[in-house]
Amino acid sequence: MSERVVYLNGQYVPESEARISVLDRGFLFADGVYEVIPVYGGCLLQEDEHLQRLVRSLEQVRLPNPLSLPQWKSVFAELLRLNPGPERGIYLQVTRGAARRDHAFPKAAEPTVLVMVNPISLPDAELLKTGVAAVTLSDDRWSRCDIKSISLLPNVLARQQAVEQGAAEAILIRQGLAVEGAASNLFVVADGVIVTPPKDRHLLPGITRDLVIELAQQQGYPVMESVIPEDQLSVAQEIWLTSSTREILPVTRLNETPVGDGKPGPAWQQMHAHYQRFKKERQALES
Ligand SMILES: Cc1ncc(COP(=O)(O)O)c(C=O)c1O
Repeated sequence: MSERVVYLNGQYVPESEARISVLDRGFLFADGVYEVIPVYGGCLLQEDEHLQRLVRSLEQVRLPNPLSLPQWKSVFAELLRLNPGPERGIYLQVTRGAARRDHAFPKAAEPTVLVMVNPISLPDAELLKTGVAAVTLSDDRWSRCDIKSISLLPNVLARQQAVEQGAAEAILIRQGLAVEGAASNLFVVADGVIVTPPKDRHLLPGITRDLVIELAQQQGYPVMESVIPEDQLSVAQEIWLTSSTREILPVTRLNETPVGDGKPGPAWQQMHAHYQRFKKERQALES
């Protein structure tokens, strides 16, 4: 297999030749933001929405946007051309660049811009038949989880703890409320209503979350953006986790107890089908 080509600071280079400074503030301080955009065939799903969220993350951490929107899009197109494949994810990261180590912003540093294409493995049919297990854990993150920051240590620790407990994801609990997953947004189905926590500083405004709400509303399902107390999880008929790389994942065991009847529920079956249809339509439009 030929080596992957990545984009680093204006150059397209083989991954093994890509170099950044040990003084990069992404490395030293996790001082940067990132995005992940799923790509099906040649179609970048919700590309504009991902770029809008990138612009917002950059503004919130006071980093100038190093590229214009057309420039970002042309980098993505070139990288996808150089790294062919069926289902891929574009990963991009912008850091405040390399400078003598000091917490305050450097006076003159060029941002470091990295873009790469990763293969993504979507949940397979077998997994979707059984659903996945999740565990609840305390949300130990900061209070600006609405920024897609590369500072992900609490998320990493939570996901690892979940994996060690035989689960696919940790559902994070802050002050008695279920907020989101370590790398996913949370939905529950309660009394026939699809519920997801409202956007605030404690959760990432997920692009898949917004799309699922939009598709559900188009289909006439009742959807509510409302807080989810932790104890509602144990009586929910269905629990789903959404993200760009895992789409809509049905949770069928929570803390070793079945969710509903322990199988992916009827609302999930329908939303999953709508989501797959939406993807196909978008792909057809692009080709
Ligand atoms: C903490 C967190 N919440 C939610 C999501 C889902 O966001 P999206 O649907 O934009 O991928 C992610 C994705 O990585 C995440 O890291």
